[in-house]
Amino acid sequence: MKTQVRPKTDNRAESPSDHAFDGPRGASGARAAVIVPVLTHRGDAGSETKRRSPEARLEEAIGLAAAIELEIVSSGIVNIATPKPGMLFGSGKVEELAAIVQAEEVELLIVDHPLTPIQQRNLEKALKCKVLDRTGLILEIFGARASTAEGTLQVELAHLKWQKSRLVRSWTHLERQRGGLGFIGGPGETQIEADRRLIQERITRLERELAQVSRTRDLHRRKRKKVPQPVVALVGYTNAGKSTLFNRLTRSDVFAKDLLFATLDPTLRRVALPHGREIILSDTVGFISDLPTHLIAAFRATLEEVTEADLVLHVRDIAHEDTQAQAADVTTTLELLGLGDDRDVTIVEVWNKIDLLPPERRDGLLAANGAAKDAVAVSAVTGAGMDDLLARIELELSAGSVVFDVSLPADDGEAIAWLHRNTDVLSREDEEMRCHFRIRVAERRKGEVMQRFRGRLDPVAEPAVS
Ligand code: GTP
Repeated sequence: MKTQVRPKTDNRAESPSDHAFDGPRGASGARAAVIVPVLTHRGDAGSETKRRSPEARLEEAIGLAAAIELEIVSSGIVNIATPKPGMLFGSGKVEELAAIVQAEEVELLIVDHPLTPIQQRNLEKALKCKVLDRTGLILEIFGARASTAEGTLQVELAHLKWQKSRLVRSWTHLERQRGGLGFIGGPGETQIEADRRLIQERITRLERELAQVSRTRDLHRRKRKKVPQPVVALVGYTNAGKSTLFNRLTRSDVFAKDLLFATLDPTLRRVALPHGREIILSDTVGFISDLPTHLIAAFRATLEEVTEADLVLHVRDIAHEDTQAQAADVTTTLELLGLGDDRDVTIVEVWNKIDLLPPERRDGLLAANGAAKDAVAVSAVTGAGMDDLLARIELELSAGSVVFDVSLPADDGEAIAWLHRNTDVLSREDEEMRCHFRIRVAERRKGEVMQRFRGRLDPVAEPAVS
């Protein structure tokens, strides 16, 4: 078995040196080591290994660990010819890891690969430190990030379902501390009897609470639906720059940091388009490769903002070496959410971080913004391409919408109120007996509006938005 350990700095020119794990770095928090196993045997069907470079996987795993402020004292890539059922790694590798754990006083080993409960427990015994796999780590991050009641419940539910799916007979108890870092334990820790019945009871209770919270949020959303502004949702791979773009477009100060999963709960804000029309922009949780399916299911409710959006902007870090693989992961997740090809919501790609590209490529992409059909190139940091993006949003939203003139009796308060709630009122002129409206009706509302005001609508030919 060959061990490859690479420096985690950006200096890719450095040659990898066997066994030379990096020195200490990072701030406070538990001392952690990050290992990316690369399965090299022929039977490895893991598309992950094939699509992404081990270096990029390592960088991402370190980013994930940093998201909960672990101090990464050691990191590396380990080639595995044949995965061992007992500990994933062979015994020689485990000895090496044990030495590193001891020398670096590692409290937590993160293995960027699924571990069976038995492998996890055996590794913990052999290495004398806590061991967490990728799903466990993502759950910890989600636990630390959840800020709303719904987010917290969703994470806890996902955590319990995961624990339940991993229960083996020899597990007598599980420890968990709410709000992240559950693996470290400590004061305030809630011990959960990890017996299926108890976990199931807790799951049932959480599901009931969650249903209640979701009902409340649903009401809010329905209220908002009555507002005629279209909803534009930002989606993208974690760290693609969604929050930075959201801030730039709304000039607000949503938490944007170089932390994976900085945004967990959807954030909504109003934005005015160039021609004065308003939209509601929604920032959502970032996606990541190998996001466990039950976690997607748990977040389905939160992500309903996306499934009900009028337009979806898929934000991509176009300067990232794995940008294609990341885009494919986002597309897969969107399909799982029911936003596949057959759904009629338009998805526009936003190629972000063009400031990190060589000048010729950047300028070429910017110049193509007006012409490119599927993508708009921007930099959320420098603001380049923002006008093109806003114009594109405006264009997409007006596609399929229709402008009408309609005139109503001034005393028909109910119809006038309905018009304001359900259409975009572009202008209004009041006479003594009648009110004249010019309204824009979104594609999805056309049938309803035409039925309600049958015979009274006068279509207006609109100049194209440029
Ligand atoms: P999650 O919350 O993990 O889903 O991340 P996000 O997609 O919301 O990304 P966020 O906006 O937090 O940005 C991640 C990092 O990328 C931050 O350090 C940003 O400053 C940086 N970033 C965002 N947009 C750009 C850009 O256009 N250019 C450059 N150079 N950096 C950017």
